[in-house]
Amino acid sequence: MLTLDLRNLEETRVGAANGVDVAAETAALAPHLDAAADALLARADDPAAMLGWIATPGDPAPLDAVQAFADARRGTYDDVVVLGIGGSALGARALQAALLSPIAPPDAAGPRLHVLDNVDGDEIAAHLAALRPDRTLVNVISKSGTTAETMAAYLAFEAWLRDGVGDAWREHVVVTTDPERGILGPHADAHDLPRFDVPPSVGGRFSVLTPVGLLPAALVGIDVAALLRGAARVRDDVRLPAADGVTKRLAATQVWGARRGKTQTVWMPYASGLRRTSDWFVQLWAESLGKARTRDGARVHAGTTPVPAVGATDQHAQVQLFAEGPNDKLTTFVVLARDRQAARIPDAPDGLAPLAYLGGRRFHEVLNAEAAATAHALAVRGRPSLTLTLERLDEEAFGLLLQTLMWQTALVGEIWNVDAFDQPGVELGKRYTYALMGRDGFDDERADLRAAGVEAS
Ligand code: PA5
Repeated sequence: MLTLDLRNLEETRVGAANGVDVAAETAALAPHLDAAADALLARADDPAAMLGWIATPGDPAPLDAVQAFADARRGTYDDVVVLGIGGSALGARALQAALLSPIAPPDAAGPRLHVLDNVDGDEIAAHLAALRPDRTLVNVISKSGTTAETMAAYLAFEAWLRDGVGDAWREHVVVTTDPERGILGPHADAHDLPRFDVPPSVGGRFSVLTPVGLLPAALVGIDVAALLRGAARVRDDVRLPAADGVTKRLAATQVWGARRGKTQTVWMPYASGLRRTSDWFVQLWAESLGKARTRDGARVHAGTTPVPAVGATDQHAQVQLFAEGPNDKLTTFVVLARDRQAARIPDAPDGLAPLAYLGGRRFHEVLNAEAAATAHALAVRGRPSLTLTLERLDEEAFGLLLQTLMWQTALVGEIWNVDAFDQPGVELGKRYTYALMGRDGFDDERADLRAAGVEAS
């Protein structure tokens, strides 16, 4: 279902300064990758290790609960609004883009999904003006149950529902949050709102296959059981010796790239449906691996900068830079072995004879030719890349892809010896925001800001 082509990483293709001897380097890194996978699997049940995402695909309880809720509410809403940010929003958006039609016809069977992940008053007001409260379900998602951006949007939507449907507003809200922490859970309980758990042992960016992503997906008709089925297969792959599986070799490419000075990692799927997966991957990679210190406290400033791209669109934009700018990038091309629609380009009519080479070809064939051509064009300039091929874009394959990328990130974190599951850099910004907005309990941060002359404009 997932295959990996590392030929454009070979030093014989891109030069010793940019590539590697894949067989030799795989053998050298294999013991470390195997140890890293074993260490992650060994800690998977330790709640403090934040590795709950490893077992999530095999746990039927959240799946059943999510599916039962979606089934019970089917036909009740025209629109589902997700309010969340970061890991509490990007997964739902990736699922929507990958697995639903890019055009939602007005009579589509399921409700439309809107993911609002910013505290942008214009965007929020536009949705409040366009949607009908009596036909809308709001899914507020915050693991911590305190994030200012999400809470601000939620206050606006709850008030809008109360105004629009009175006491029935409770039938238009569903809460997804940590079972113990934050203010959202108690709010849900106080008003008898349905609520789903973000497992305490799963961090936001690793939560797409928990109710965080599964509930919105089920509500709009995505086959969440198939998603989890695909994801569950990754556990078998990571148990394989490093040279035999996909996941460990995928992690290895990033370790090699960083060693060769590739400080940026481009993620470039050749599928419009995976455009939003690039955004999800960027957050996963950046927030997990961009760390000042190792787990032993040594200052390292680890990380490579993820660059989202999409083929073929970016061949007419960023690829110029990838080909001729600083040779500091490792590109992961993602292609689909098969498309869903098998759409063909019609034969060129008389008068458009120069386009005859396109006539009768499948769009998908053109897209994959573009991917292969771009990978080669980069290679001949000494720019390394790898190609990950996904058999097709359906729920099972997509679940497998998401889980593979989470494992890849966690394995690289192990090799680099950083904590891939915290985000101290993000937390500091959150605290300064609270201080600027006058929230109680942030006096030290307020003093810091005052001393630096920083104020909310
Ligand atoms: O990956 C993460 O942990 C973060 O991106 C969070 O998902 C993000 O900060 C939102 O947090 P919360 O779900 O607590 O509102």
